[in-house]
Amino acid sequence: MTVSSASGPAQASGVFPIGGDLPVHRLGFGAMQLTGTGVWGEPKDRPEAIRVLRRAVELGVNLIDTADSYGPFVSEQLIREALHPYADDVVIATKGGFARTGPGEWHELGRPEYLRQQTELSLRHLGLERIDLYQLHRIDPQVPLADQLGELARLREEGKIRHIGLSEVTVEQLREAREIVEIVSVQNLYNLVNRKAEAVLDYATAEGIAFIPWFPIATGQLARPGGPLDTLAKERGAAPAQLALAWLLRRSPVMLPIPGTSSVAHLEENTEAARIRLTDDDFETLSAIGL
Ligand SMILES: NC(=O)c1ccc[n+]([C@@H]2O[C@H](COP(=O)([O-])OP(=O)(O)OC[C@H]3O[C@@H](n4cnc5c(N)ncnc54)[C@H](OP(=O)(O)O)[C@@H]3O)[C@@H](O)[C@H]2O)c1
Repeated sequence: MTVSSASGPAQASGVFPIGGDLPVHRLGFGAMQLTGTGVWGEPKDRPEAIRVLRRAVELGVNLIDTADSYGPFVSEQLIREALHPYADDVVIATKGGFARTGPGEWHELGRPEYLRQQTELSLRHLGLERIDLYQLHRIDPQVPLADQLGELARLREEGKIRHIGLSEVTVEQLREAREIVEIVSVQNLYNLVNRKAEAVLDYATAEGIAFIPWFPIATGQLARPGGPLDTLAKERGAAPAQLALAWLLRRSPVMLPIPGTSSVAHLEENTEAARIRLTDDDFETLSAIGL
């Protein structure tokens, strides 16, 4: 079965061409929450995880973010089970560069041979011949950046990767990386109440690089009743998580939020955010809440 993302609310978020040639609807989905506790092992409710992935694509989501380290590999395997063979317009963005030793345990590992091995494993687990967007999950401070990105560039030349992205970097690191290889995306923690990556976002916006904010609803903190968005959400007849996502979509044209959830109900609520158009006043009010 091939699920098509041709229509659905996510379309209303607009289109961004990653790397200039990979158009995606701006509101995507993050598949980290589909694994077990501590991003380790199988999900509590596997059939629901499969339903979430299929429903995401039905709702028009065609950017799905994952990583070899989520599970490890559980998230990628679920994506394959739910969506393979992939519809032509579905982009699976994965990442490598962390080794996992247990629940909640993450170790940066950017040695070229490890990045190559993990890329090969991601290709196998996702059932792909080429990964559309491969993101270096973290820059490993123990390994020269040119060695880490050099290996990804070789994998790209070999046709195993289409585009290269980075995660959790500074503007300086992004600039340095771009001297070595073309970088089409950056994925940093960013949401209404945590804007430490503002300088990176501004740089990405100016350069036309996709900015993929992780924790877009602050791991649910921005979605809870009684939270900072509750009053305005009630006034506007929207859910708090929807306002957090609508604010991100309005903040920059290169913004590609990837809210994560393990529930179809939350997924449907979050995807509806794509249809919300904030007024200038609402945008300013929300911006002030987060400061
Ligand atoms: N690059 C990196 O280093 C990095 C790090 C972390 C994450 N990521 C990526 O970013 C994605 C997003 O981050 P995230 O999933 O951790 O954080 P998030 O999207 O900000 O929040 C997800 C959390 O919010 C809850 N939630 C989602 N929608 C909700 C709603 N409508 N109402 C109430 N609660 C809701 C979810 O619980 P339920 O499951 O109960 O809905 C989940 O606990 C990840 O999936 C992953 O792909 C990247």
